Amino acid sequence: MDIYEIMRKRRSVRSYKSEPVEEEKLKRILAAAISAPSAANRQPIYIAVIKDKKIKQQLKQVYNAEWFYTAPIIICACSIPEKAWKRSDGKNYADIDATIAMDHLILAATAEGLATCWIAAFKEPLVKSILNLPSGIEPVALTPIGYPMNIPEPTYRKPLEEIVQTL
Ligand SMILES: Cc1cc2nc3c(=O)[nH]c(=O)nc-3n(C[C@H](O)[C@H](O)[C@H](O)COP(=O)(O)O)c2cc1C
Repeated sequence: MDIYEIMRKRRSVRSYKSEPVEEEKLKRILAAAISAPSAANRQPIYIAVIKDKKIKQQLKQVYNAEWFYTAPIIICACSIPEKAWKRSDGKNYADIDATIAMDHLILAATAEGLATCWIAAFKEPLVKSILNLPSGIEPVALTPIGYPMNIPEPTYRKPLEEIVQTL
């Protein structure tokens, strides 16, 4: 699959098989995540890989969808704002860096035939306490990873002209 095909194939999948994810695939996906660029190469990110059934069951409290907390793996991409590059006006790029890493991870998972779903609607204080995140490490996005039960149809996208302007 080339990069365009991977982007076309990616979906938000909300049903997963219990079949485990191969360790070599997980390693490649995580390597893709940490290969992501970051502002001034500060790499102010932390990635939690959750496989433990008990912890996954606890994560039900943070996002109560069975397909999420029963997936073979859950990833939590975090930012570390104090380590991030800041623009001269003070804007901190930590969350952007964490998001780029997560997007690399999600596209790599797609390339491996795996499914994912970005999750932002989580209860942040509970993620911090369940994953024992030290202060200063901020969860940005979660995703389950696993083999899809069914692959949804593509969702609507606004036409190019509505979004892109050539100046
Ligand atoms: C930053 C972000 C946060 C999202 N949060 C959630 C979420 O909390 N729960 C969920 O079911 N989907 C979530 N989604 C998935 C979007 O609903 C989905 O990407 C969008 O509807 C387009 O569908 P597609 O991903 O299949 O192309 C999120 C997506 C992004 C990019």
